[in-house]
Amino acid sequence: AIPAVNIFDDLSLRAAIKAAERESSPIIIQASVKTARSIGVRMLTCMVQEAASRTTVPVALHLDHCPDQQMAHEVIAARWSSVLFDASDRDLATALKETREVVNSAHAVGVEVEAEIESIVGVEDGVGSDVAGHAYTTRQLADFVEQTNAGLLAPHVGTAHGVYKGRPNLLPERVAELVTMTNRPIVLHGGTGLTAAEFRSFIVAGVSKINISTAVKEAYMRAAANHLSHAEKTQHWDPPSMFRDVSVAVEAAVAEYI
Ligand code: 13P
Repeated sequence: AIPAVNIFDDLSLRAAIKAAERESSPIIIQASVKTARSIGVRMLTCMVQEAASRTTVPVALHLDHCPDQQMAHEVIAARWSSVLFDASDRDLATALKETREVVNSAHAVGVEVEAEIESIVGVEDGVGSDVAGHAYTTRQLADFVEQTNAGLLAPHVGTAHGVYKGRPNLLPERVAELVTMTNRPIVLHGGTGLTAAEFRSFIVAGVSKINISTAVKEAYMRAAANHLSHAEKTQHWDPPSMFRDVSVAVEAAVAEYI
């Protein structure tokens, strides 16, 4: 399985790639629509291209949870590696039509599409819901990827975005079924907080892409908070030394998950 790590700026981007180097792993760098909009698609594309050109590990660039066709087309035009077109908030017929349109324009220029039509519980950077929405049968999901020709599928497998409050009811057997039925890479959302044994059961079942976001945010913000409280006490205000602390913390968190 390939780790897919959400980044928020150049600091987290470079730290995630350093972690991949340290673990000799390929990495999918992904950004939420919120991050892509705040940095700008063009600048973010340049940042990742530049960082990728300086490393020996394979780096892909992916847009996470995008419910907006316009935004999907923007990153397709910028030749990102892939985009998650998130149609989980619409009815099946609309999801089918819109996903097919995104897949067609993506495939025309060699970009791949991750499809999502079931809701994965939890809000990720403003997209999603805390209430479970659509649930489909594995047959319906397999037919959906067949009819849209989407290259990857993100099904509901019992995981959720954010911090787990209790132990989730995980469904690795659903992954195994979908791997056989779709012959597509299956994506695991909500990686933060799963145990090593839980990750292993999903990987054995055939999961190919594992998303990690909350752990990166937490490592980033805790390191910044610790640094700032120390700066306040010592009255020593030096941004580059805070960036260093944040980088070290993010690299360690990402390496741990890889
Ligand atoms: P976590 O924030 O729970 O790690 O989930 C990440 C994710 O699935 C991004 O789409």
